[in-house]
Amino acid sequence: MVALALDARKRAHAPYSRFKVGAALKTRDGEIVTGCNIENASFGLTMCAERVAVFKALSEGLSGFDAIVVAADSKRITAPCGPCRQILWEFCGDFVVHMVNLRGETKTWRMRELMPLPFDGSIL
Ligand code: THU
Repeated sequence: MVALALDARKRAHAPYSRFKVGAALKTRDGEIVTGCNIENASFGLTMCAERVAVFKALSEGLSGFDAIVVAADSKRITAPCGPCRQILWEFCGDFVVHMVNLRGETKTWRMRELMPLPFDGSIL
């Protein structure tokens, strides 16, 4: 999954931030779907790697995800942005999030740690 996320990162379209991100999302059945960030000159239309992977997978009829690997060239390991956390919580629940950088450093969380007080369908 790390290799797939790093490979997907190479396909990022990030001419504005130059911050390329790749993701590899895995179903419990072992299928892996990748994503990369895709920016736009109208900056707000930018889509993060994590959401590209989730939306690709859902649109292919996949569900039941158990882990995602997100790869970025950051000096210190970051975590998914707020909007991505909301999407990941909605479709992946309390699954495992691994972040890696190009130095091979990694950090792992469960979504619950990243979303301790989520807004979700259980509230509606
Ligand atoms: N980005 C992601 O793809 N995932 C994240 O979790 C954080 C940010 C992208 C969005 C934008 O293209 C670039 O990184 C800089 O914010």
